[in-house]
Amino acid sequence: MLQVTNVTKIYGQQHALDNVSFSVDKGEIVGLLGPNGAGKSTLMKIITCFIPPSEGDVNVCGYNIFDNPKEVCRCIGYLPEQNPLYTEMYIPEFLRFVADIYKLKNSRQRVDEMIELTGLTPELGKKIGALSKGYRQRVGLAQALIHDPQVLILDEPTTGLDPNQLEEIRKVIINAGKSKVVLLSTHIMQEVEAMCNRAVIINHGKIVADGSLDELKKKNDSMEELFHKLTKD
Ligand SMILES: Nc1ncnc2c1ncn2[C@@H]1O[C@H](COP(=O)(O)OP(=O)(O)OP(=O)(O)O)[C@@H](O)[C@H]1O
Ligand SMILES: [Mg+2]
Repeated sequence: MLQVTNVTKIYGQQHALDNVSFSVDKGEIVGLLGPNGAGKSTLMKIITCFIPPSEGDVNVCGYNIFDNPKEVCRCIGYLPEQNPLYTEMYIPEFLRFVADIYKLKNSRQRVDEMIELTGLTPELGKKIGALSKGYRQRVGLAQALIHDPQVLILDEPTTGLDPNQLEEIRKVIINAGKSKVVLLSTHIMQEVEAMCNRAVIINHGKIVADGSLDELKKKNDSMEELFHKLTKD
């Protein structure tokens, strides 16, 4: 469903991504790991058609990022790093706006479902700008899920969540992952162990590990140990 083939991204002189290839099937929740500056967000921006690769190709649900970018976007729910939102809008107003962009027929119902799913009900009276960080994160997740996409690309989805919220949002992601492709980035190894069945580790724009969590943990005491070993330079 998601196929990344020999993707390279060069910013000026810098190789942010260097010949990255992997594919993800339905039902997989893949943790994309790597130190700051490794290229995780760059890869996600390429998959979601925000920026083009310098070389290589990506196919999502059978659509190509160069030939069918609109179809690619329709298949993907994307929570970008820093979670950009319209701070002057109320939550239902914003979600209706997103639903209308996707031309959803049942937009009112989907907005209500997303509010319920992501636990936004207590904050409906506030503008997005007045929400706490964790609640904004939930709005970001709600907008990513609203069109029931087959592929979810989540750039550090659990940043800023308190332990209770973390638990709930993890459940939402795990549940979504049963029938979708999920690619999420995180710096928290516990997070990977709690949510993902596979991890891809990148360092300086190159893949240094790719395997099921069971496989990766078999050879190492923990994901932390593996991460340190592969990314310490
Ligand atoms: N627009 C840009 N122009 C120039 N360099 C960029 C640009 N965007 C990203 N980079 C560089 O590309 C490299 C990869 O950045 P990226 O944001 O993909 O890393 P990341 O793995 O998401 O890191 P983090 O964990 O800090 O979010 C970094 O060295 C970054 O400075
Ligand atoms: Mg990033």
